[in-house]
Amino acid sequence: MSHDLQKIKNEALAELAKLSTMHELDAFVVNYFGRSGGKLNTVLRSLKDLGDQERRSLGSEANAVKVEIWKQIDVKRNELKNAGKKQFVDLTAATERPRLGHLHPLTLARREMEEIFKGLGFAVMEGPDIESDYYTFEALNIPVEHPARDMWDTFHIKGFENAAENRKMVLKPHTSPMQVKVMEKHEPPFAVIVPGRVFRHEATDARHEHTFDQLEGFLVDENVTLANLKWILNEFFKQLFGEKIEIKLRPSYFPFTEPSIEVAVSCIFCSKKGCSVCHTGWLEMLGAGMIHQKVFEFAGYPKDKYSGFAFGIGISRIAMLKYDIPDIRMLYQNDQRLLNQF
Ligand code: DAH
Repeated sequence: MSHDLQKIKNEALAELAKLSTMHELDAFVVNYFGRSGGKLNTVLRSLKDLGDQERRSLGSEANAVKVEIWKQIDVKRNELKNAGKKQFVDLTAATERPRLGHLHPLTLARREMEEIFKGLGFAVMEGPDIESDYYTFEALNIPVEHPARDMWDTFHIKGFENAAENRKMVLKPHTSPMQVKVMEKHEPPFAVIVPGRVFRHEATDARHEHTFDQLEGFLVDENVTLANLKWILNEFFKQLFGEKIEIKLRPSYFPFTEPSIEVAVSCIFCSKKGCSVCHTGWLEMLGAGMIHQKVFEFAGYPKDKYSGFAFGIGISRIAMLKYDIPDIRMLYQNDQRLLNQF
């Protein structure tokens, strides 16, 4: 009897594998499980005539065979149902999102600043990182040995130690060298911004880094006044930080501007009340002034013909304020925990 069961099973599975239509499958089911004459049914029915023990063991074997064949019938049924159909792909099904690249906070800040100045009529230009001593200092009215050079702790490039002063090379410690370079090539009027990376030989802390980013701006024409500078900066900061921002001008000193000023904006966190970021209600933002006539002389412009203003803003500082980054060094470490937030 057990032998019969195994034989039926093997035959059934072999037959099943060869079926190719639903019609054949239906016939197969009748052939094995039909009430009268179904091959397996007949065996199952005959179990009742056996003795207790035999019935029990053959009963469970017969049941297992039945289950196994039905399982394969289901598999076959699905196979026949889907045969000839195109496979359905659900394009809207949720999957893992592809990882996209994104911009560094410094790039975001720089681009936003550039867009505002472009809207105000400024052209964007860039200068090299390795710059001559001449454009970095001399042409900006900072002669060799002038104590004002101490304002910039400059990295000097090896190999140029004995060159003539105007051939010595440095890693640019500010973006101002482009002032005279642009003036030499262009006749006023013009308005230019120069974003760029700058380098200083100084100890680092939360507010100082040896490498940071600046944006230089200058406008030259006839009859430019400090009022023009104030209007441009006021407009810039309002677009950057919002309409409520106020700016404050204070006297300062830079060798390449006369008069020189420092500009502070009302604190974007506490609106002048005084907080842990500003302490005084005001945030020191930039140096600026009216371009010194000596600088125009170095550019080869006729005496007293032109006037203009210049300013230098820290892009790093703006990024820190805009994105609430407490330590300037974080902008240059490329820690994914910071970058992934942008
Ligand atoms: N170059 C100056 C610095 O790095 C910033 C600066 C001050 C730029 C006054 C200017 C300016 O154009 O007029 O400290």
